[in-house]
Amino acid sequence: MYFNKYPFSHNFSFSDAYQPASGFAFANDTRPVNLRQYGSNVFRITVQGGDWEQNHSQVDYCYPESAESNYRLELSANGALALSQCDGTPMLEAYPKGSFGKSGSASMFRFRYNPSHRFYGAGSKLLPLEHTGMQTKFWNTDVWADFSMQQVVDGRPDPYYVSIPYLIIKTENAWVGLLYNNPESAFISVGAKQNIETFATVKTDDLDSVVIGAESGQPDLFLLAAKSLAELTRSFQQLVGVTPLPPIWSLGYQQCRWGYESVKQLQGLQEKFETHKIPVDGLWLDIDYMDGYRVFTTDDNLIPEPASEFQSMLDAGHPVVPIIDPGVKLDPDYSVYQSGKEAGIFCKNPEGDDFIGLVWPGLTVFPDFSRADAQAWWAAQVEAFASLGIIGAWLDMNDPSVGKSNPYDMLWGAEGEHPHRTFHNQYGTGMAKATRAGFEQAHPNERIFLLTRSSSTGGGQYAAVWTGDNVANYHYLRMSIPTSLNLALSGIPFNGADVGGFGHDTHPKLLRDWTKAACLGAFFRNHCEKTTIDQEPWAFDTLTLEVCRDFIQLRYLLMPYLYNLFVAQAECGEAIMRPLIYDFESTESVDLDRVEDAYMTGPAILQAPFVDEDNTHRAVPLPAGQSWYAPFEQKWYAGDQQLEAVERNDRTTPIYLREGTVIPLRRDSPESHRTDLRTVDLLIVASAKTQAKFRYEYTADDGRSLAYQHGERSSLQVNVEVANGELNVGIEQAESGFGAIQARLMVLEEFKCVRLNDEVISMTSFDLNFAGCSLNLKVMAAPE
Ligand code: NOJ
Repeated sequence: MYFNKYPFSHNFSFSDAYQPASGFAFANDTRPVNLRQYGSNVFRITVQGGDWEQNHSQVDYCYPESAESNYRLELSANGALALSQCDGTPMLEAYPKGSFGKSGSASMFRFRYNPSHRFYGAGSKLLPLEHTGMQTKFWNTDVWADFSMQQVVDGRPDPYYVSIPYLIIKTENAWVGLLYNNPESAFISVGAKQNIETFATVKTDDLDSVVIGAESGQPDLFLLAAKSLAELTRSFQQLVGVTPLPPIWSLGYQQCRWGYESVKQLQGLQEKFETHKIPVDGLWLDIDYMDGYRVFTTDDNLIPEPASEFQSMLDAGHPVVPIIDPGVKLDPDYSVYQSGKEAGIFCKNPEGDDFIGLVWPGLTVFPDFSRADAQAWWAAQVEAFASLGIIGAWLDMNDPSVGKSNPYDMLWGAEGEHPHRTFHNQYGTGMAKATRAGFEQAHPNERIFLLTRSSSTGGGQYAAVWTGDNVANYHYLRMSIPTSLNLALSGIPFNGADVGGFGHDTHPKLLRDWTKAACLGAFFRNHCEKTTIDQEPWAFDTLTLEVCRDFIQLRYLLMPYLYNLFVAQAECGEAIMRPLIYDFESTESVDLDRVEDAYMTGPAILQAPFVDEDNTHRAVPLPAGQSWYAPFEQKWYAGDQQLEAVERNDRTTPIYLREGTVIPLRRDSPESHRTDLRTVDLLIVASAKTQAKFRYEYTADDGRSLAYQHGERSSLQVNVEVANGELNVGIEQAESGFGAIQARLMVLEEFKCVRLNDEVISMTSFDLNFAGCSLNLKVMAAPE
């Protein structure tokens, strides 16, 4: 597989004629076309014929039907494909020389490149947020094994661990999503220059085009249209599947390192966290806990009583999260190997024997997750393992990583009838799906948390993603934001990078900056490689310990808010961490299109962290439409301006709360990792000087079981009105299946009068610990 060479349009023939009855006409054959419309804004075009059979693992996405359409997809008699709004305003214009091309097994759709358009998405890539000029492939890699270390340390290795061939296009007045629903090796290019080595740029048609295609497999293009990026993302999530509501512990701080190998060691860690008053949830075990790296075993010397040890950690509220690799040691005396061999579920090689790779255990065989029987077999192994008191797992090496063995020899199907390329990108997703099934069998009423390294389109339904092996340097800290944002826009909102950096030794300043930058992300885990120095929050100086403590505590303070963002994701596909263009429009004063060093967590909180080592100041764009409250300064800023020189401060980070929002805060002790969602402070972000009206819905449940699906949840409707310096808040408990929610009002400043459900209430002064700073607020005086 060449990672940096791409199918070139000049080697394709393009159809210049289309007829509904026969399809795309080429000089020597015709390819049938199936054109469909789902809902009011989703179109699908599938081309058949030749060897473009539907791939055995291709997903047939369902999308609700709708009678009306706000957009029009046209396929003209000359083969030109174009998308427009109903009034005829073009969104994606047809490419003059043909829209659809083929070259042997490869296919591509081509649109005219418009320099005023902006491009996003493409899953997990170490690329800037905005993708103009991008040329990229989609083929899951085991990055450290597939690229040179020099490229890894400060380059942009591509392709990366996750394949989602989904391109988001911001047009003049609407948004378009293009998804190539083809699990094989796909590619996208966006007005990309073609270089001869690094010396000369050749002018080709590709510079004027937006191309999406695949080297093989069925051409199956979904086109989504929407008015805003938020609407587009919700539609896309609805199409490929949302992230199910996770257990609340998985939103807490997670402590990991390669080298944690026993529960005893994790207990020691837990005590350290308590001593340092730092809340933590999951404590993680890397590969050394296993007996000779045999999956689903534990080393007797390290974990003598696995069931009681795992259970006692779980009872203490600290789930142990063990790593699970897909490779099974080829060892005739090992029961998991014996059972898989007997069931015949391992991948085959071209000679019809089990495919053998080289991973930690040595010679290794691999379950064929493309097969239902192998999924069931794996789920049964997981079920037995999970029954030891494990409710979450970390799925690694599923790119799949096979060492120096050639992955193309790894075939799918009982007889090895499907070539490797047909399922390669979905291997991690297949593993996640089977693992989830096993956990659900073991814990039918428990919410399961899985984290995976590799994933593909729709993979967020089964597992969160961490962005793989990064390096402890500012390049990776900087890239962690656009990578996470694009992954979130591509249907995997529950994601995050290894905080502190995985490879190489971190250092105190980097750990502090990274902890601040990541504390409002969707997934928050400190992890590092085996040979590196310690990087737990207390591993360095007092300043680092205090800063890590403050920002980890801040995350827990915001836990009800974060949790409700996950509720909105599960219910309607809303992104969690998102770029500024998700919630706001660019204006003349602030161009948001390429902002990748600041992000929103939900609709209410903007963070613009320091992600460069030496910057003493940075610019912060404050979107138009409302004012912003800087909690560390206790000061309002007008929107629609760029703060040119915000000063770096060791103890704080530039955070801004959006006026016109409600942020539910946890009332439990800052040191505790437990959250009672029924007791909450509602921080009303409003200035007494403006007029505003807004609503918020708050949901509470037990945070861990599936009882919420059977009515055990409660919710509040909060209606806020600010007028003439007075604040009126109406709170109504809309659902009560999880009991009464005790809500206390908090405001940032004095109002002439505060009414709650039409009763005047008195407010008293209150100092909130906001990441170690004392934020002076007004809180409802009377008990609720
Ligand atoms: C590779 C993973 O990416 C890393 O996070 C893990 O620590 C090592 N494998 C060892 O299991």
